[in-house]
Amino acid sequence: MSTTGTVINRARLAELLIGERQTYAQNNPKSAALYAEAGNLFGGVPMTWMNKWSGGFPLYLETAHGNRITDIDGHTYIDFALGDTGAMAGHSPDASTKAIVQRMVDQGGITTMLPTADAQWVGAELTRRFGLPLWSFTLTATDANRWAIRLARLATGKSKILVFAYCYHGSVDEAFAVPGPDGTAVARSGNVAPPVPLAETTRVVEFNDLGAVERALAHGDVAAILTEPALTNIGIVLPEPGFLAGLRELATKYGALLMIDETHTISAGPGGMTKRDGLKPDIFIIGKSIGAGIPSGAYGLTYEVAEAIQSHREADLIDVGGVGGTLAGNSLSMAAMKATLGEVLTDQAFDEMISLCTEYTSDVNEILSRYDVPWSISQLGARAEYRFTSPAPINGSDSAENSDDELDEFMHLFMCNRGILMTPFHNMALMCPSTSRDDVKRHTGLFELAIKELVSG
Ligand SMILES: Cc1ncc(COP(=O)(O)O)c(C=O)c1O
Repeated sequence: MSTTGTVINRARLAELLIGERQTYAQNNPKSAALYAEAGNLFGGVPMTWMNKWSGGFPLYLETAHGNRITDIDGHTYIDFALGDTGAMAGHSPDASTKAIVQRMVDQGGITTMLPTADAQWVGAELTRRFGLPLWSFTLTATDANRWAIRLARLATGKSKILVFAYCYHGSVDEAFAVPGPDGTAVARSGNVAPPVPLAETTRVVEFNDLGAVERALAHGDVAAILTEPALTNIGIVLPEPGFLAGLRELATKYGALLMIDETHTISAGPGGMTKRDGLKPDIFIIGKSIGAGIPSGAYGLTYEVAEAIQSHREADLIDVGGVGGTLAGNSLSMAAMKATLGEVLTDQAFDEMISLCTEYTSDVNEILSRYDVPWSISQLGARAEYRFTSPAPINGSDSAENSDDELDEFMHLFMCNRGILMTPFHNMALMCPSTSRDDVKRHTGLFELAIKELVSG
């Protein structure tokens, strides 16, 4: 943790946190009551990670449109969490909703095992944005990663996946690794019953360390390097100059595929960092945002990778070979993707979202320096995240070491109690096409108020 600058008084923080928890409980009696009654839900919530919400129980949703959420206690929030990118297009955007209703209600046939013409349009649009020529569809980014990992193993004949410490690619077994004392992969703390010891499937090194990447690849058993082009699930850890180009070179040199997961980093622009920074992945992963919340994901392949896969005539890609799902590529998610990519997450929308996020980031930076608080904020296009350390961490382990659960909870509750939702997993803010300058300025004002409270002890 940084040692220079204003030191946060922990006793004062603990006191403030108690106050924010009390306010949260008082403000949200209906949400608290529903949570208390959810005896038939494992963990009391529809999905166990919803317990990550600060304050002891989650808010229950009433309505959501654009970047506004109203909960069942009647509070309306400016939503900077946006479903942790699932709602990057805004909640129920008109064009997507219209296409979804048309498919479901007017045309009918959500899942029929038959293709629709929308799929070709979406494939061509993904090629325009990200460059890879061939696409296949899934319902989640997790599935896209899982299936693409199998394909990478098939294409290369190698067994291991190289990942970066504290990466997250969905519930993908291979990715929950950190380097053990001798550098071999061990399961991350809390990993639920890994099917095999992580070292059997995975090599892991630190982000931004090309030397370590090369040493890992030199074993000759790595099928693919799987990475986000900037880590976004342990704060935002940006690549240092030359790191991504170095990954490309090393992957080629050692016969591994470069698998880029842009599920979150699409915030960098309409073609993600791949387009913005001229990356050349062999396999590309995307999910979450592209169907405006209707389950949608995709993986892209180069012709070379596709040929290598298809040369394995014994591999069953059609039935029960291990790649695919009954509902994948269904007509509803294709209709949602077509409308969302074509009419909502447009090039122009990205320009505005990124410009708002630049303002958000510069406001936070200005406040941090005015109050001499040693935190940092990293921006990646339309998303930004503050971290309670400065300078910003350069790898996952460094960032993990500087996590601060109390400060996280305080900032979440402080914002939530005053009408702003931040991503519950971290202090990330994402802009969507309906985010306004006033929304950003509302955050700026509250951020300054929170900092004042914290430093006045
Ligand atoms: C980079 C990345 N890839 C994949 C996923 C998995 O997405 P999903 O949970 O929608 O399958 C996530 C989820 O946060 C992610 O951040």
